[in-house]
Amino acid sequence: MKYGYFDDANKEYVITTPATPLPWINYLGSDGFYGLISNTCGGYCFYRDAKLQRITRYRYQNAPADMGGRCYYIYEDGASWSPSFLPAKTELDRYECRHGLGYSKFLGEKNGLSAELTCFVPLKADCEIHKLTLENKSDRKRSIHVFGAVEWCLWNALDDAINFQRNLNIGEVEVEDRAIYHKSEYRERRNHYAFYAVNAKTQGFDTDRESFLGQFRGWDAPFAVEQGACTGSVASGWAPIGAHEIAVELAPGEKTTLIFQLGYAENDPQNKFTEPGVINKEKAHALMARFQTEAQADAALSELAAYWDELLARFSLSSGDEKLDRMINIWNQYQCMITFNISRSASYFESGTGRGMGFRDSCQDILGFVHMIPDRARERILDLAAVQFEDGSTYHQYQPLTKRGNADVGTGFNDDPLWLVACAAAYIRETGDDGILLEAVPFDNEAGTEQPLMEHLRRSIHYTIEHLGPHGLPLIGRADWNDCLNLNCFSTIPGESFQTCSNYESGTAESVFIAAMFVRYGREYAELCRRQGETGEEAEVLSAVSRMEQAVLDHGWDGEWFLRAYDAFSQKIGSRENTEGQIFVEPQGFCTMAGIGGEAYGKKALAAVEQYLVGDYGVELLHPCYTSYHLELGEISSYPPGYKENGSVFCHNNNWVTLAYTALNMGSKAFDIYRRTCPAYQEDASFVHRTEPYVYCQTIAGRESARYGTAKNSWLTGTAAWAFVAVSQGILGIVPEFDGLRVEPCLPHHIEGYTVRREFRKTVYEITVRRGKSDEEKGMFIDGEKNSGSLIPLCTGRKTCRVEVVL
Ligand code: GLC
Ligand code: GLC
Repeated sequence: MKYGYFDDANKEYVITTPATPLPWINYLGSDGFYGLISNTCGGYCFYRDAKLQRITRYRYQNAPADMGGRCYYIYEDGASWSPSFLPAKTELDRYECRHGLGYSKFLGEKNGLSAELTCFVPLKADCEIHKLTLENKSDRKRSIHVFGAVEWCLWNALDDAINFQRNLNIGEVEVEDRAIYHKSEYRERRNHYAFYAVNAKTQGFDTDRESFLGQFRGWDAPFAVEQGACTGSVASGWAPIGAHEIAVELAPGEKTTLIFQLGYAENDPQNKFTEPGVINKEKAHALMARFQTEAQADAALSELAAYWDELLARFSLSSGDEKLDRMINIWNQYQCMITFNISRSASYFESGTGRGMGFRDSCQDILGFVHMIPDRARERILDLAAVQFEDGSTYHQYQPLTKRGNADVGTGFNDDPLWLVACAAAYIRETGDDGILLEAVPFDNEAGTEQPLMEHLRRSIHYTIEHLGPHGLPLIGRADWNDCLNLNCFSTIPGESFQTCSNYESGTAESVFIAAMFVRYGREYAELCRRQGETGEEAEVLSAVSRMEQAVLDHGWDGEWFLRAYDAFSQKIGSRENTEGQIFVEPQGFCTMAGIGGEAYGKKALAAVEQYLVGDYGVELLHPCYTSYHLELGEISSYPPGYKENGSVFCHNNNWVTLAYTALNMGSKAFDIYRRTCPAYQEDASFVHRTEPYVYCQTIAGRESARYGTAKNSWLTGTAAWAFVAVSQGILGIVPEFDGLRVEPCLPHHIEGYTVRREFRKTVYEITVRRGKSDEEKGMFIDGEKNSGSLIPLCTGRKTCRVEVVL
């Protein structure tokens, strides 16, 4: 069962009922001002940091879910409704929500009156625009009152939710004709304020929640809306809001547009007041002036569309498979940008008050979007390298506002350093900018410790070499990619974090997964060394890579598949000798991608994956699930069977299986795995999954769970980046190399060929791939000339380059 459909021409997903199983959301903003917006116009916005600079309030675990957000009501003759269904909950004659790239559009119709509400964050403007167009489709004159309302968050979202001693006293506002200003804490240390404005004469306002909503009421039925009139309240403490009331008369057939604006502005501390206690509003006024008219709002919307068109055009595909094209050309790339911008901070599953930027997460995100905005990737890589310690280990997270490592979570996740090598190499392959290796970057942001990025990579690699266990495999530390395989944590205290408790530092527990990463990224690093003329280092690392490969073959192979790890007592994990958790997906995918043991081992490992782990909705993380808590394994066994790391489909690593199949040149198998978790192919399962069918989610409950197929944690997942890599580099086979672009497709049977437009180092490559009928036809042709091999040498200085590949 579906709740909508894809509209590819408009790059939108169209939701046709407000009653989606969960709020289905979208993101607004790309550079500072961000909003989360659901298909009923719920959600919230923030400036740069979802925790520290939250602009509007959001209630977690609310019942009903998703009340509040951007609240619009249309009042007429004692009744009211909302264009996006919520908050009013009045049954509509027509409802539609279109989630597009950086905007969401709601269409509500009731009694011959239609309302179209378009919400977006314009480029280079710190505000949301809510453009509301009303049309009288009836043959009688209509007298309407439009109410628009938002509830302010008192900036620090966590404090806002817990510190009522303070919060109930600090709320302050200012009211101006057509604009309401939120200025809590502006009197003291904050130099920023928010505002909510409208471009029309208002009939009334409210800024105090209780006055607007009335006693015993929620946002679904505010007292003021029921009366058809605001009360003119001025908040002092308690819960400040912004609410406007506008009277609108519409003759039959008449249309009118109101532009609401929810903005943020920062003042110079020297110049923050115009008179004692009064905000200097110059910046807000300037921002308002930019979006006063419908024409201005429409122009901003067109600029936004052009921005996305330009970004997406850097990689576009036509394959004859509509669903594949839709993912690659629109949604997968879009999600990659969102995960880059928001990291794992704010979604309907991530509270925005928790973790900062994950080190390994951010490194992997770069793999997916580096072709879109390489400059921002460059900056991100240098920020990441600056939270590395001198010994090569890294902080596991850092704070986006301060860019400092997060000391609460600390270090010791032994896969982290290697991801830095992965993303730096991916960046250089994409851009050719090996100058980045010479950039001086400090350790732990400590001035005076600067070393070239290349030295950071060296320390990453040597960190692994220097931290090997009894089998010559890398020590796992607190966890490797799998955050829940906590082999040095023996936690018995309820609520203790499995990731930070390391009360059993065995110096023994080893990870086969990190070994595979080392083989893959060690070679990548050796190649960088060769290019930098560091041949001694190159040779040293290549020999460490060979030893690691051998260690995996000697001690990391279980006979039919790769082992997962050794625990603190050097017992096997992920072996048929275990009763539960006999096989894990991660090493099967990654060891095969790294080529460990060649085709023979890879084929066996993937056959085992197929036999034990592949379900309808993707590859499950392990089998059989742990049924009870294992002190020596950590968080993984804390989840009930089939959930999260305990045997759900963790979509992220499904892509490693896809890539492993492409490494073995098994295109149809690769595609089959890809299809199982890919949203566009799974749209019909929306009823089961419950999450948005246009983006990847992190986890889908596995066959052993009580809710097989339910998905959770949509949007902010490394799945987006890896899925893009799996298709673009694995299946389509377009791989950025240091010296050019390689095209080695590994297509499934149903795809006969494709054309791709790929921007790469300032040249547009128009690549056509087709299957040949005879051997003579086969090969690669560049502008008609036969090329030897599959690497397109750099077409430097040329605007376009036409490449034909006959398979
Ligand atoms: C979450 C984390 C990621 C981790 C994964 C598996 O997605 O953000 O860093 O690798 O879980 O545990
Ligand atoms: C929890 C989650 C895991 C996530 C981690 C990040 O352990 O189960 O998926 O990666 O938190 O902090």
